[in-house]
Amino acid sequence: MIILITGTSSGIGLKLAQDYLAAGNTVFCCGRNKPVLHQLVTPFGDRAIPLAFDVRNREDCLAALTALPELDLVILNAGTCEYIDASNFDAASFERVIRINLIGLANCLEALVPKLAAGSSLSLMGSSSSYLPLPRAEAYGASKAATEYLAKTLAITLGKEGIHVSYIAPGFVETPLSDLNDFPMPMRVDVEFASRRIRHGLERKQSEIHFPRLFTGFMKTLSLLPFTWQRFLLAKVLMS
Ligand SMILES: NC(=O)c1ccc[n+]([C@@H]2O[C@H](COP(=O)([O-])OP(=O)(O)OC[C@H]3O[C@@H](n4cnc5c(N)ncnc54)[C@H](OP(=O)(O)O)[C@@H]3O)[C@@H](O)[C@H]2O)c1
Repeated sequence: MIILITGTSSGIGLKLAQDYLAAGNTVFCCGRNKPVLHQLVTPFGDRAIPLAFDVRNREDCLAALTALPELDLVILNAGTCEYIDASNFDAASFERVIRINLIGLANCLEALVPKLAAGSSLSLMGSSSSYLPLPRAEAYGASKAATEYLAKTLAITLGKEGIHVSYIAPGFVETPLSDLNDFPMPMRVDVEFASRRIRHGLERKQSEIHFPRLFTGFMKTLSLLPFTWQRFLLAKVLMS
């Protein structure tokens, strides 16, 4: 397969790129940090192609991606997280998160949807935070809830053209990003688990890939409750 993954310089994206390369695929590995990308792709020869660009910049994205060949699988994984103190709402922090996690997706989609033909797959990296309104995740959760909506809408529209679109919603995964969290992370899994679960879900063309199931199943069940109950429970558990 010819695969493109964004955010391959660390964490989940790096592990996915390494695993797909080890399985004999050709992978376009994207990130901002050119030296890191070159270092990680070197062991895989010319099947690993580094592409350095910033997903926030539409022109950069188009310049880096427009000349690519047709792709079998695209995983839009690049992302960031900043937490919000709602009493001192920081619009600049909100904008930083939305520009990478959401506008970055749109910039990549503009360049990459033309590279997808019937039978190919597109996957958007969200988070299980999209299932529930989590305190301090006002920016991150909003970006991921929008990503879920975007992925599910594209699953209908691009699905009509034979392109399979999926939404990925991990719980906590051990990466440099989640290492910055200053709170307990129940059922946190490692990148090996995350990569295995994502690749398995994509192989089976699942529309929603969420894991670990015990954690995301609990989140999904809570999300079915009336909002007044959710608000009561989440405030009690997360803010007391
Ligand atoms: N870790 C978790 O617990 C967890 C849980 C749920 C969902 N996720 C999602 O999984 C994805 C990957 O996260 P991770 O935990 O693996 O984090 P990570 O190790 O920090 O990796 C983030 C990747 O995104 C790239 N990136 C960030 N900003 C970018 C930009 N402006 N332009 C281009 N690339 C950019 C980074 O590359 P450069 O810095 O080199 O540009 C890096 O390769 C994110 O979308 C995150 O929201 C993570």
